Amino acid sequence: MKIPQIGFGTWRIKDHNEGVESVKVALETGYRLIDTAQIYGNEAAVGEGIKASGVPREDIYLTTKIWTGNFSPELVAPSFAESLEKLRTDYVDLLLLHWPRPGRHEAWIELEKLHQAGTVKHIGVSNYTIRHLDELLASCKVKPAVNQVELHVYLQQPELIQYCKNHDIAVEAYSPLVHGARMDHPVLKDVAAKHDKTPAQIMLRWCIDAGTIPLPKSVTPDRIRSNFDVLDFQLDDEDMVKIKQLNTHERINDDPNTMA
Ligand SMILES: NC(=O)c1ccc[n+]([C@@H]2O[C@H](COP(=O)([O-])OP(=O)(O)OC[C@H]3O[C@@H](n4cnc5c(N)ncnc54)[C@H](OP(=O)(O)O)[C@@H]3O)[C@@H](O)[C@H]2O)c1
Repeated sequence: MKIPQIGFGTWRIKDHNEGVESVKVALETGYRLIDTAQIYGNEAAVGEGIKASGVPREDIYLTTKIWTGNFSPELVAPSFAESLEKLRTDYVDLLLLHWPRPGRHEAWIELEKLHQAGTVKHIGVSNYTIRHLDELLASCKVKPAVNQVELHVYLQQPELIQYCKNHDIAVEAYSPLVHGARMDHPVLKDVAAKHDKTPAQIMLRWCIDAGTIPLPKSVTPDRIRSNFDVLDFQLDDEDMVKIKQLNTHERINDDPNTMA
């Protein structure tokens, strides 16, 4: 599977026009991975933004996610058909189960069928811990291609990254900018000054150098552009050692470890 090194996140983009415009700016900037979900309520804006950008559909790695309320076997395919219609496309590159909630095993079987039918190129999961992945790998016919999890300099999750690497599962890092907060840490400022970059760019580059795919979200054109400008430098061993100290295991989203 080929997947871009960085993607564009769309959670909490509620306004339709803002969604269309942000996705268009992201694609014009060079992002080729767009991440949405049924629960975000913006699949139609994402679809319109893709059309408005003029970027060919086949050049874009489009992801959506089945919401937990649609995990019943009879709801997965119809809800996905609605997603396709809103997204104005006849396939997605990646379809994820949004959270490891009850019903996920049955829902995974439905994803395998969609994959077989060809309307979904790759299937994967989100917010899965090692325990949830162990469980899935023991029973699935098609292995997940991706696990999308909260991951950033304050929640580095090296064991999960290593586990996924061992099983050929790509890791996508969500909330890589910690919602725009906590960029003022002296270590981030220090490393940013050394590379003539911003702390936000250091946070995103750290995700890439840790072997993951960051999905920064922004509706601000300048930020959309600067968040993408992280492919022309690399963090060295000294930077990585310094940033390792920031790993305080802090979550800003729900903790999937608490999910049965
Ligand atoms: N699978 C899941 O359960 C899950 C959960 C959460 C997120 N995600 C995905 O991951 C994506 C990213 O995560 P996220 O939206 O939670 O958080 P994020 O990308 O860490 O942060 C987004 C926030 O940071 C601000 N921001 C963006 N770039 C900035 C910069 N350069 N400097 C300062 N502030 C900046 C944005 O403001 P403006 O927009 O105002 O510029 C926005 O408020 C989501 O959009 C979604 O696609 C998935």
